[in-house]
Amino acid sequence: MKSQPIHPDFDRVLLNEKEIETICKELGAKLNKEYAGKVPTILAVLKGVTPFLTDLSKEFTFYCDYEYVASSSYHGGVVTSNWVEIYLWPRLTLRNKDVLIVEDIVDSGLTIQKIKQKALSEGAKSVKVVTLLDKPEGRKTKFVPDYIGKTIPKLFVVGYGMDFDEKYRNIPYVGVLKPSMINMNPKDYPWKKGE
Ligand code: IMP
Repeated sequence: MKSQPIHPDFDRVLLNEKEIETICKELGAKLNKEYAGKVPTILAVLKGVTPFLTDLSKEFTFYCDYEYVASSSYHGGVVTSNWVEIYLWPRLTLRNKDVLIVEDIVDSGLTIQKIKQKALSEGAKSVKVVTLLDKPEGRKTKFVPDYIGKTIPKLFVVGYGMDFDEKYRNIPYVGVLKPSMINMNPKDYPWKKGE
């Protein structure tokens, strides 16, 4: 695999492609033990989770179903709000299912807690959470994910599914943007030119 040069809007890389691959293999091995002989429903949290879901899923040796949820709390900024809205939820019931919630990053924990509670209230048999990244310093609840790829400090990160103003999700690594990018007047964002 040939790595791309670092994107000019990035200050530094926090997790490169090789490190992400290793994390997916390690988490996959643990989940294969957890779900051996079971048929869990994967509940993937859109939109940021898509690259991680794809890479992690390739490691699974168990049968599984896929469902998607979408929620929002950031509203395009870099600081989370306390208000979480779930605006997409599976049509099929999660009753008696072993549910594995797959998330890109847990910060305040409010999103994942709300999704987990909703799955349990539908009668899920078990609900576990796997996240690529965990920012425990940002927690506003006592939530602890069952499986964590990497614990990171309280930084705003983008790439590998994670966004800033819906951009950078396609970048194949996780990194930190330059302060000049984060502090830029939104009307000057490079993707706003010509609007
Ligand atoms: P929480 O409810 O505060 O735990 O936030 C969960 C959601 O916020 C995640 O699913 C991400 O979509 C988003 N989020 C949290 N931290 C970051 C970050 O550093 N970069 C981009 N998105 C983030």
